[in-house]
Amino acid sequence: MNAPTPPPGRIRPPTADAVAEAARLLDAGELVAFPTETVYGLGGDATSDHAVARIFAAKGRPRFNPLIAHVADIAAAERIARLDDRALRLAARFWPGPLTLVLPRRPEGGVSLLATAGLDTVAVRVPAHPVALALLAAFARPVAGPSANPSGRISPTSAAHVADGLGARVAMILDGGECRVGVESTVLALTGPEPILLRPGGLAREAIAAVLGPIGDGTVPAEPDRPAAPGQLASHYAPERPVRLDAATVAADEALLAFGPDVPAGAAVTLQLSAAGDLAEAAANLFAHLRRLDRPDVRRIAVMPIPATGLGEAINDRLRRAAAPRPEPPAFE
Ligand code: TXA
Ligand code: MG
Repeated sequence: MNAPTPPPGRIRPPTADAVAEAARLLDAGELVAFPTETVYGLGGDATSDHAVARIFAAKGRPRFNPLIAHVADIAAAERIARLDDRALRLAARFWPGPLTLVLPRRPEGGVSLLATAGLDTVAVRVPAHPVALALLAAFARPVAGPSANPSGRISPTSAAHVADGLGARVAMILDGGECRVGVESTVLALTGPEPILLRPGGLAREAIAAVLGPIGDGTVPAEPDRPAAPGQLASHYAPERPVRLDAATVAADEALLAFGPDVPAGAAVTLQLSAAGDLAEAAANLFAHLRRLDRPDVRRIAVMPIPATGLGEAINDRLRRAAAPRPEPPAFE
Protein backbone atom coordinates (compact mmCIF):
# COMPACT_ATOMS: atom_id res chain seq x y z
CA MET A 1 0.00 0.00 0.00
CA ASN A 2 1.19 3.52 -0.71
CA ALA A 3 2.06 5.76 2.23
CA PRO A 4 -0.79 8.18 2.94
CA THR A 5 -0.30 11.66 1.47
CA PRO A 6 1.08 13.83 4.27
CA PRO A 7 -1.16 16.72 5.31
CA PRO A 8 -0.40 20.14 3.83
CA GLY A 9 1.72 22.52 5.84
CA ARG A 10 3.68 19.74 7.43
CA ILE A 11 6.91 20.47 9.24
CA ARG A 12 9.87 18.36 8.11
CA PRO A 13 13.35 18.01 9.59
CA PRO A 14 15.81 19.24 6.94
CA THR A 15 17.17 15.87 5.80
CA ALA A 16 18.68 15.50 2.32
CA ASP A 17 15.47 13.74 1.26
CA ALA A 18 13.28 16.56 2.55
CA VAL A 19 15.41 19.20 0.80
CA ALA A 20 15.26 17.24 -2.48
CA GLU A 21 11.49 16.93 -2.15
CA ALA A 22 11.22 20.65 -1.39
CA ALA A 23 13.13 21.41 -4.61
CA ARG A 24 10.72 19.14 -6.54
CA LEU A 25 7.74 20.94 -4.98
CA LEU A 26 9.19 24.32 -6.00
CA ASP A 27 9.69 22.96 -9.51
CA ALA A 28 6.00 21.96 -9.57
CA GLY A 29 4.98 25.53 -8.66
CA GLU A 30 4.24 24.74 -4.99
CA LEU A 31 5.21 26.89 -2.00
CA VAL A 32 7.81 25.74 0.53
CA ALA A 33 8.65 27.59 3.74
CA PHE A 34 12.38 27.54 4.45
CA PRO A 35 14.63 28.76 7.26
CA THR A 36 17.10 31.60 6.83
CA GLU A 37 19.34 33.24 9.41
CA THR A 38 16.93 36.22 9.60
CA VAL A 39 13.35 34.89 9.47
CA TYR A 40 11.58 32.01 7.67
CA GLY A 41 10.83 32.62 3.99
CA LEU A 42 7.75 31.63 1.99
CA GLY A 43 9.53 30.21 -1.04
CA GLY A 44 8.30 29.85 -4.60
CA ASP A 45 9.95 29.61 -8.03
CA ALA A 46 10.95 33.23 -8.74
CA THR A 47 10.87 32.56 -12.49
CA SER A 48 7.24 31.42 -12.47
CA ASP A 49 4.39 33.96 -12.53
CA HIS A 50 2.10 31.21 -11.31
CA ALA A 51 4.23 30.38 -8.24
CA VAL A 52 4.80 34.06 -7.45
CA ALA A 53 1.06 34.76 -7.69
CA ARG A 54 0.51 31.97 -5.15
CA ILE A 55 2.94 33.66 -2.75
CA PHE A 56 1.04 36.95 -2.91
CA ALA A 57 -2.26 35.11 -2.44
CA ALA A 58 -1.02 32.98 0.49
CA LYS A 59 0.25 36.04 2.37
CA GLY A 60 -2.56 38.39 1.42
CA ARG A 61 0.22 40.71 0.29
CA PRO A 62 -0.40 43.76 -1.93
CA ARG A 63 1.05 43.04 -5.35
CA PHE A 64 2.84 46.38 -5.57
CA ASN A 65 5.23 45.08 -2.92
CA PRO A 66 8.10 43.34 -4.71
CA LEU A 67 9.77 40.16 -3.44
CA ILE A 68 13.39 39.23 -2.74
CA ALA A 69 15.00 36.68 -5.08
CA HIS A 70 17.17 34.32 -3.01
CA VAL A 71 20.15 32.81 -4.80
CA ALA A 72 22.97 30.43 -3.84
CA ASP A 73 25.96 32.64 -4.60
CA ILE A 74 27.32 35.74 -6.36
CA ALA A 75 27.44 33.96 -9.72
CA ALA A 76 23.73 33.18 -9.48
CA ALA A 77 23.05 36.81 -8.50
CA GLU A 78 24.95 37.97 -11.61
CA ARG A 79 22.57 35.96 -13.80
CA ILE A 80 19.52 37.95 -12.66
CA ALA A 81 20.99 41.38 -11.78
CA ARG A 82 23.84 43.71 -12.66
CA LEU A 83 26.34 44.04 -9.82
CA ASP A 84 28.52 47.13 -10.00
CA ASP A 85 31.76 47.55 -8.07
CA ARG A 86 29.90 48.61 -4.90
CA ALA A 87 27.61 45.60 -5.07
CA LEU A 88 30.53 43.24 -5.64
CA ARG A 89 32.42 44.63 -2.65
CA LEU A 90 29.38 44.27 -0.38
CA ALA A 91 28.57 40.81 -1.72
CA ALA A 92 32.14 39.61 -1.18
CA ARG A 93 32.11 40.94 2.36
CA PHE A 94 28.57 40.13 3.56
CA TRP A 95 27.10 37.26 1.49
CA PRO A 96 25.91 34.81 2.57
CA GLY A 97 24.25 37.10 5.11
CA PRO A 98 21.42 39.42 6.12
CA LEU A 99 21.90 41.95 3.32
CA THR A 100 19.51 42.38 0.36
CA LEU A 101 20.74 44.44 -2.58
CA VAL A 102 18.29 46.19 -4.90
CA LEU A 103 20.01 46.18 -8.28
CA PRO A 104 19.28 46.75 -11.97
CA ARG A 105 17.38 43.69 -13.21
CA ARG A 106 18.66 41.64 -16.13
CA PRO A 107 15.53 41.02 -18.20
CA GLU A 108 17.11 37.84 -19.58
CA GLY A 109 17.60 36.56 -16.02
CA GLY A 110 14.07 35.20 -16.00
CA VAL A 111 12.78 36.60 -12.69
CA SER A 112 9.00 36.99 -12.91
CA LEU A 113 7.84 40.57 -13.39
CA LEU A 114 5.19 39.85 -10.79
CA ALA A 115 7.98 39.22 -8.27
CA THR A 116 9.57 42.60 -9.01
CA ALA A 117 6.19 44.39 -9.18
CA GLY A 118 7.06 45.44 -12.72
CA LEU A 119 10.13 47.43 -11.65
CA ASP A 120 13.35 47.40 -13.65
CA THR A 121 15.19 46.50 -10.46
CA VAL A 122 15.39 43.27 -8.49
CA ALA A 123 16.15 42.61 -4.82
CA VAL A 124 18.70 39.83 -4.37
CA ARG A 125 20.18 38.06 -1.40
CA VAL A 126 22.26 34.99 -0.50
CA PRO A 127 20.97 33.76 2.87
CA ALA A 128 23.40 32.44 5.50
CA HIS A 129 21.60 29.27 6.49
CA PRO A 130 22.78 25.78 5.51
CA VAL A 131 19.23 24.55 4.81
CA ALA A 132 18.41 27.56 2.62
CA LEU A 133 21.68 27.16 0.73
CA ALA A 134 21.06 23.41 0.27
CA LEU A 135 17.59 24.16 -1.11
CA LEU A 136 18.91 26.87 -3.47
CA ALA A 137 21.64 24.51 -4.70
CA ALA A 138 19.14 21.69 -5.28
CA PHE A 139 16.60 23.93 -7.03
CA ALA A 140 19.24 25.81 -9.07
CA ARG A 141 16.92 28.74 -9.82
CA PRO A 142 16.15 31.88 -7.80
CA VAL A 143 13.60 31.45 -5.02
CA ALA A 144 11.20 34.32 -4.32
CA GLY A 145 10.77 34.54 -0.58
CA PRO A 146 8.97 37.09 1.52
CA SER A 147 8.77 36.42 5.23
CA ALA A 148 6.47 33.43 5.81
CA ASN A 149 3.69 35.25 7.68
CA PRO A 150 0.32 36.70 6.74
CA SER A 151 0.93 40.23 5.42
CA GLY A 152 1.21 42.84 8.18
CA ARG A 153 1.73 40.34 11.00
CA ILE A 154 4.81 39.34 12.98
CA SER A 155 7.52 37.57 10.96
CA PRO A 156 8.23 33.92 11.86
CA THR A 157 11.47 32.89 13.52
CA SER A 158 10.58 29.21 13.97
CA ALA A 159 8.85 26.50 11.94
CA ALA A 160 6.00 26.50 14.48
CA HIS A 161 5.40 30.22 13.84
CA VAL A 162 5.07 29.47 10.12
CA ALA A 163 2.63 26.64 10.78
CA ASP A 164 0.55 28.96 13.01
CA GLY A 165 0.20 31.66 10.37
CA LEU A 166 0.30 29.90 7.00
CA GLY A 167 0.29 26.18 7.80
CA ALA A 168 -2.33 24.97 5.36
CA ARG A 169 -1.10 27.22 2.55
CA VAL A 170 2.36 25.69 2.11
CA ALA A 171 3.24 22.26 0.77
CA MET A 172 6.12 21.84 3.21
CA ILE A 173 7.86 23.66 6.05
CA LEU A 174 11.58 22.85 6.31
CA ASP A 175 12.46 23.07 10.00
CA GLY A 176 15.86 24.67 10.49
CA GLY A 177 15.34 25.58 14.14
CA GLU A 178 15.19 29.11 15.49
CA CYS A 179 16.52 31.94 13.32
CA ARG A 180 19.86 33.20 14.60
CA VAL A 181 19.50 36.88 13.58
CA GLY A 182 15.75 37.27 14.16
CA VAL A 183 15.01 40.43 12.15
CA GLU A 184 14.75 40.63 8.36
CA SER A 185 17.66 41.50 6.12
CA THR A 186 18.84 45.04 5.59
CA VAL A 187 17.60 46.26 2.18
CA LEU A 188 20.03 48.55 0.35
CA ALA A 189 19.32 50.10 -3.06
CA LEU A 190 22.32 50.42 -5.38
CA THR A 191 20.36 51.69 -8.36
CA GLY A 192 21.56 55.32 -8.25
CA PRO A 193 24.72 57.23 -7.48
CA GLU A 194 24.11 57.12 -3.73
CA PRO A 195 23.48 53.87 -1.82
CA ILE A 196 20.09 54.13 -0.08
CA LEU A 197 18.98 52.21 2.98
CA LEU A 198 15.40 51.12 2.25
CA ARG A 199 14.93 48.96 5.33
CA PRO A 200 17.19 48.66 8.36
CA GLY A 201 17.73 45.00 9.23
CA GLY A 202 20.04 42.27 10.39
CA LEU A 203 23.19 43.90 9.01
CA ALA A 204 23.91 47.18 10.80
CA ARG A 205 24.14 50.37 8.76
CA GLU A 206 27.55 50.98 10.33
CA ALA A 207 28.90 47.74 8.83
CA ILE A 208 27.81 48.79 5.33
CA ALA A 209 29.15 52.32 5.80
CA ALA A 210 32.53 50.84 6.75
CA VAL A 211 32.73 49.46 3.20
CA LEU A 212 30.92 52.14 1.13
CA GLY A 213 31.08 55.26 3.26
CA PRO A 214 27.95 57.10 4.42
CA ILE A 215 24.64 55.86 3.05
CA GLY A 216 21.40 57.75 2.47
CA ASP A 217 17.97 56.96 3.82
CA GLY A 218 14.59 56.69 2.32
CA THR A 219 13.04 55.57 -0.84
CA VAL A 220 14.10 54.80 -4.35
CA PRO A 221 12.18 56.73 -6.98
CA ALA A 222 9.21 54.53 -7.76
CA GLU A 223 5.65 55.21 -8.77
CA PRO A 224 4.32 57.90 -6.40
CA ASP A 225 1.58 55.68 -4.97
CA ARG A 226 3.86 52.72 -4.44
CA PRO A 227 5.86 52.19 -1.28
CA ALA A 228 9.48 51.60 -2.33
CA ALA A 229 9.68 48.91 0.34
CA PRO A 230 7.01 47.52 2.70
CA GLY A 231 9.19 48.95 5.37
CA GLN A 232 7.31 52.09 4.38
CA LEU A 233 3.88 50.74 5.18
CA ALA A 234 3.31 52.34 8.56
CA SER A 235 1.59 49.43 10.27
CA HIS A 236 3.52 46.18 9.90
CA TYR A 237 4.93 43.44 12.10
CA ALA A 238 1.85 43.95 14.24
CA PRO A 239 0.68 41.78 17.15
CA GLU A 240 -3.08 41.77 17.90
CA ARG A 241 -2.68 43.78 21.11
CA PRO A 242 -1.70 47.49 20.88
CA VAL A 243 1.94 48.34 21.54
CA ARG A 244 3.22 51.20 23.75
CA LEU A 245 6.83 52.31 23.21
CA ASP A 246 9.49 53.79 25.53
CA ALA A 247 7.84 52.45 28.68
CA ALA A 248 9.57 53.52 31.91
CA THR A 249 6.78 52.14 34.11
CA VAL A 250 4.22 49.42 33.51
CA ALA A 251 0.58 48.75 34.46
CA ALA A 252 -0.80 45.55 35.96
CA ASP A 253 -2.83 44.75 32.83
CA GLU A 254 0.12 45.25 30.48
CA ALA A 255 2.68 42.75 29.20
CA LEU A 256 6.24 44.08 29.35
CA LEU A 257 8.94 43.60 26.74
CA ALA A 258 12.05 44.41 28.77
CA PHE A 259 15.56 45.40 27.73
CA GLY A 260 18.56 45.79 30.04
CA PRO A 261 19.00 45.20 33.75
CA ASP A 262 16.63 47.80 35.27
CA VAL A 263 13.18 46.36 34.73
CA PRO A 264 10.11 48.08 36.26
CA ALA A 265 7.96 45.78 38.37
CA GLY A 266 4.21 45.22 38.20
CA ALA A 267 3.50 43.87 34.69
CA ALA A 268 1.06 41.01 34.11
CA VAL A 269 3.91 39.19 32.38
CA THR A 270 7.46 40.20 31.47
CA LEU A 271 9.81 38.83 28.83
CA GLN A 272 13.40 40.00 28.60
CA LEU A 273 14.96 40.81 25.19
CA SER A 274 18.43 40.96 26.71
CA ALA A 275 19.20 41.50 30.39
CA ALA A 276 22.79 42.31 29.41
CA GLY A 277 21.61 44.97 26.94
CA ASP A 278 23.00 43.02 23.98
CA LEU A 279 21.33 44.16 20.74
CA ALA A 280 22.06 40.98 18.75
CA GLU A 281 20.46 38.91 21.51
CA ALA A 282 17.50 41.33 21.59
CA ALA A 283 17.00 41.09 17.80
CA ALA A 284 17.05 37.28 17.95
CA ASN A 285 14.35 37.32 20.67
CA LEU A 286 12.20 40.17 19.33
CA PHE A 287 9.52 38.47 17.22
CA ALA A 288 9.17 35.32 19.35
CA HIS A 289 8.76 37.44 22.50
CA LEU A 290 6.18 39.72 20.84
CA ARG A 291 4.16 36.64 19.89
CA ARG A 292 4.29 35.23 23.41
CA LEU A 293 3.25 38.55 24.96
CA ASP A 294 0.32 38.93 22.55
CA ARG A 295 -2.11 37.25 24.98
CA PRO A 296 -5.85 37.75 25.29
CA ASP A 297 -5.52 38.43 29.04
CA VAL A 298 -3.37 41.55 28.59
CA ARG A 299 -4.61 44.91 27.42
CA ARG A 300 -1.44 46.14 25.78
CA ILE A 301 2.25 45.36 25.25
CA ALA A 302 4.62 47.91 26.78
CA VAL A 303 8.17 48.06 25.45
CA MET A 304 11.21 49.52 27.22
CA PRO A 305 13.47 51.93 25.29
CA ILE A 306 16.17 50.35 23.12
CA PRO A 307 19.25 52.18 21.81
CA ALA A 308 19.07 53.12 18.11
CA THR A 309 22.63 52.16 17.12
CA GLY A 310 23.76 48.98 15.35
CA LEU A 311 20.99 46.36 15.25
CA GLY A 312 18.96 48.71 17.46
CA GLU A 313 18.01 50.63 14.31
CA ALA A 314 16.17 47.58 12.91
CA ILE A 315 14.66 46.68 16.29
CA ASN A 316 13.27 50.21 16.76
CA ASP A 317 11.97 50.25 13.16
CA ARG A 318 10.01 47.02 13.72
CA LEU A 319 8.69 48.23 17.09
CA ARG A 320 7.54 51.58 15.66
CA ARG A 321 5.60 49.74 12.97
CA ALA A 322 4.15 47.32 15.50
CA ALA A 323 2.93 50.38 17.46
CA ALA A 324 1.66 52.35 14.43
CA PRO A 325 -2.09 52.97 14.04
CA ARG A 326 -3.67 50.00 12.25
CA PRO A 327 -5.53 50.45 8.99
CA GLU A 328 -9.28 50.78 9.51
CA PRO A 329 -11.16 47.60 8.68
CA PRO A 330 -13.34 48.08 5.58
CA ALA A 331 -16.74 49.59 6.40
CA PHE A 332 -18.63 46.99 4.36
CA GLU A 333 -17.99 43.32 3.49
O1 TXA B 1 15.34 38.63 5.79
C1 TXA B 1 14.62 38.81 4.83
O2 TXA B 1 14.80 39.73 4.01
C2 TXA B 1 13.45 37.83 4.62
C3 TXA B 1 14.04 36.44 4.36
C4 TXA B 1 12.98 35.41 4.07
O3 TXA B 1 14.97 36.53 3.32
N1 TXA B 1 12.61 38.26 3.56
C5 TXA B 1 11.83 39.36 3.66
O4 TXA B 1 11.09 39.60 2.53
O5 TXA B 1 11.78 40.06 4.64
P1 TXA B 1 9.93 40.67 2.48
O6 TXA B 1 9.25 40.41 1.18
O7 TXA B 1 9.11 40.61 3.72
O8 TXA B 1 10.68 42.03 2.36
C6 TXA B 1 11.36 42.39 1.16
C7 TXA B 1 11.71 43.85 1.15
C8 TXA B 1 10.49 44.70 1.10
O9 TXA B 1 10.75 45.85 1.90
C9 TXA B 1 10.36 45.05 -0.38
O10 TXA B 1 9.58 46.20 -0.63
C10 TXA B 1 11.80 45.25 -0.72
O11 TXA B 1 12.47 44.20 -0.01
N2 TXA B 1 12.03 45.08 -2.14
C11 TXA B 1 11.97 43.95 -2.86
N3 TXA B 1 12.22 44.19 -4.17
C12 TXA B 1 12.46 45.52 -4.28
C13 TXA B 1 12.79 46.40 -5.37
N4 TXA B 1 12.93 45.95 -6.61
N5 TXA B 1 12.93 47.71 -5.09
C14 TXA B 1 12.81 48.19 -3.83
N6 TXA B 1 12.51 47.40 -2.75
C15 TXA B 1 12.33 46.09 -2.97
MG1 MG C 1 7.81 40.64 5.68
